Amino acid sequence: MQGLDVKGWKNMLKQALNLGLGSSSSTETTSYSGSFDISVDENGFAFVPRIPASYFIDNGLYESIFKIANVVCFPFYTVIKKPTMNLISWSADDFHSKRALWFDWMPVNTRIKVPESYILKNRSHIIPIMSHFFVDFNSVTSILIAGNSGSGKSYFLSYLLNFLYGMNHRSKISDLFVIDPKKDSPARWCKACNVDCLFPTKQGATTDFVADVTEVLSRFVKIIYDRQDQLYENSSIKFPHVCIVIDELLALTENIPKKLKDSFFSMISTISLMGRSTNVHLILVSQRFDANVIPVVVRQQANLKIQLGVISSATTRFLFEDLDPAGILVPTGRGTGLISFNDNKKLNQILPLQTPTFEAPKGVI
Ligand SMILES: Nc1ncnc2c1ncn2[C@@H]1O[C@H](COP(=O)(O)OP(=O)(O)OP(=O)(O)O)[C@@H](O)[C@H]1O
Ligand SMILES: [Mg+2]
Repeated sequence: MQGLDVKGWKNMLKQALNLGLGSSSSTETTSYSGSFDISVDENGFAFVPRIPASYFIDNGLYESIFKIANVVCFPFYTVIKKPTMNLISWSADDFHSKRALWFDWMPVNTRIKVPESYILKNRSHIIPIMSHFFVDFNSVTSILIAGNSGSGKSYFLSYLLNFLYGMNHRSKISDLFVIDPKKDSPARWCKACNVDCLFPTKQGATTDFVADVTEVLSRFVKIIYDRQDQLYENSSIKFPHVCIVIDELLALTENIPKKLKDSFFSMISTISLMGRSTNVHLILVSQRFDANVIPVVVRQQANLKIQLGVISSATTRFLFEDLDPAGILVPTGRGTGLISFNDNKKLNQILPLQTPTFEAPKGVI
């Protein structure tokens, strides 16, 4: 256990909740004292109310417990916020204590520094993101990275590219095709690493550029259909990963004729829907992901989502629809925000994020 032992955490949480919940309740007569118990293990803690209780056991209570406990557990554990209360059955002999509100926690993550040598040596598909948070690329469908200007989107994207492509071919996880409407650090990274990259050549010709992008995407749609035919014949084929990477999607889809936008949207929807079984992935970066920027289906298919910069219900509503970010302790500074990775093992876990620092090829950042 971090910080305290099991007994220490149990007492600390019980005390804090006794005091905190009492003061936050609207009816002053409500007493929590003696009306609940706390149980702690490595994965989290349980709030075991004694039924019948003189208080409501509802989402409001769940939120209040989360807010109090998350601060108490910092800087040792991050309590994980669920969109609605997590009532579980509790093994107690006494009928009055047979249910509990469960809170998962994990050790507080810190920013990591990933040296070039680590990437060179790496032979796995596991991408380190923070001290206790890793992403197995074999479980990734698509990746969305959102955030206000200057929040560190392109930097994090370059980290992912660096890791996915490896520094030499032996450590390569995925082939890449990069589209960079701003001809910024991702484009420079591609130049340094000899990776295919598409960027606008003439000023003001967004329409031509989007038409070129749509044409490239249609080539990938053909690859997907091709791979599906092969899968139909032999379902055990494992295809090499391919990632289509688009930085600053907003710059691409704003102010273009509807017809062009529709065909771009249709390509990108097809790739996100059908790419997952054939290992063709999308990595999309945008200031925001409302329905004008990408089709809703693309948002629903992505299982690794990152929101950088300012965190509020206004900024998180596109990537994390059900989340009220109140009470989540988001670090400040560049390259910070929230991350969720929905890999079927840990559903709906939204965690504070500090993006890794890495050694980029010369002249890229
Ligand atoms: N994890 C990090 N470690 C160190 N520096 C970082 C980190 N994340 C971001 N930065 C720094 O923050 C600055 C801004 O990042 P970046 O250009 O990626 O922002 P952006 O969100 O892409 O902005 P824009 O919308 O203008 O393209 C960069 O100069 C980068 O060096
Ligand atoms: Mg950028």
